Amino acid sequence: MFSYDSAWKRAWGLLILLLIFFSAVEIPLWLVLDYHPVGNLLIFHQAISYFFLLDVVLNFRTSIHVGGKTITSGSEVARHYLRTWFLVDFLSAIPMELILGFEDPLFGSVLRLLRLLRVKQLLSQQRLFTSLNPTILRLAVFISWVLLAAHWISCIWISLGGCAEETDILRRYLRSMYWAFATLGTVGYGDITPVTNMQTIYAIFVMILGAGMYGYIIGNVASLLANMDVAKVQFSEKMDKINAFLSYRNIPIELQEKVHGYYNYIWESRQGYDESVVIEGLPPSLKTEISLFLNREIIQKVPLFHGAGSDLVRDIVLSMQPVVFMPGDKIVQKGELGDTMFFISHGRVEVISEDGAEVYATLNEGNFFGEIALLTMEPRTATIRAADYCDLYVLHKKVFDRVLEKYPEFSENIRLQAEKRRQTRDH
Ligand code: CMP
Repeated sequence: MFSYDSAWKRAWGLLILLLIFFSAVEIPLWLVLDYHPVGNLLIFHQAISYFFLLDVVLNFRTSIHVGGKTITSGSEVARHYLRTWFLVDFLSAIPMELILGFEDPLFGSVLRLLRLLRVKQLLSQQRLFTSLNPTILRLAVFISWVLLAAHWISCIWISLGGCAEETDILRRYLRSMYWAFATLGTVGYGDITPVTNMQTIYAIFVMILGAGMYGYIIGNVASLLANMDVAKVQFSEKMDKINAFLSYRNIPIELQEKVHGYYNYIWESRQGYDESVVIEGLPPSLKTEISLFLNREIIQKVPLFHGAGSDLVRDIVLSMQPVVFMPGDKIVQKGELGDTMFFISHGRVEVISEDGAEVYATLNEGNFFGEIALLTMEPRTATIRAADYCDLYVLHKKVFDRVLEKYPEFSENIRLQAEKRRQTRDH
């Protein structure tokens, strides 16, 4: 049994998608322009049938993923396939041109178009596409469908005798395509007009279709483009609300600027996303994995965590919360009681005396502070002021005590560091 998730199976799926698209473009041309594939094109046509046949065989031998379960049993896979896509796949794979000969390609090749029914499902299976911006993908799929529809409309126009005065095949096709777009787009220059009754009825039909399609396209493209960058749209909506509130409550300009500065930083540093809100709804196991991944940077930056076991890192990382401070903010005030310590992920803080006159030390990325109060229960021994915008992770005393108890080596390291700091400050 092959895995539905393997790289080669996905590449195969992509190839089948391209072949379906090629067939959808080429077969109508073949039917209406009355040309017979020769040479390489003929071989390619036959190859498509064989690829489709091989795909049917592979589908019997590939595990499937339905309703959150992976089915690997051969008989179950076969039963599921027979009940769902088998008929469509099989009919479209029969090499009719070999059976009926190229004189009568209509039946076989039209059957091949049945595969178009599967495009949506094949697209959704492509992991390759999930890594693309979903809006761009939707836009690309949408444009492909519109182009394909225009292509078919122009092929039908040719089959009804449209643009018959053109003797060159390419020119006839291009003129028909031009007619299709002009009619669909409700432009209707009138340089190509219906003559026979059938053509007139068809033109009316395409005009009605065009009016609907035009509205649909404009509406869809506008909403797709508007949502192109979801994060940006949401963030600017939030900013609009905040700005409206600030001016409604007459907040002083300097304070407004501070608010803007903060949000600018939030946008630049994390595109406006609040991680905790995003991962809130996830099941605990996934939450752990995502938190570990998101916090891998802080784990690498903090020397205290180097060499610490994965259990310790997991315990701490899952309990830390990100916080942001602005330049000048007092994060810790000397003399106050404290029940939190902080790890610096980004930015600089200054360790200062209570009046701010003396700077004992500057701490930056990977450093931590606030541990002394947690270790000794004494009031804060210094004031800490943010020198830049600071991304910190905060750890509460309850978790800290649990960690110290569980991991004596870590406890020893942190005590040593605290002692060193106390000595340098006292001298
Ligand atoms: P705590 O006393 O809880 O709050 C103030 C923090 O400043 C303190 O913990 C230490 O983490 C930190 N700190 C105090 N003195 C120094 C120093 N000399 N160098 C670096 N950090 C210090």
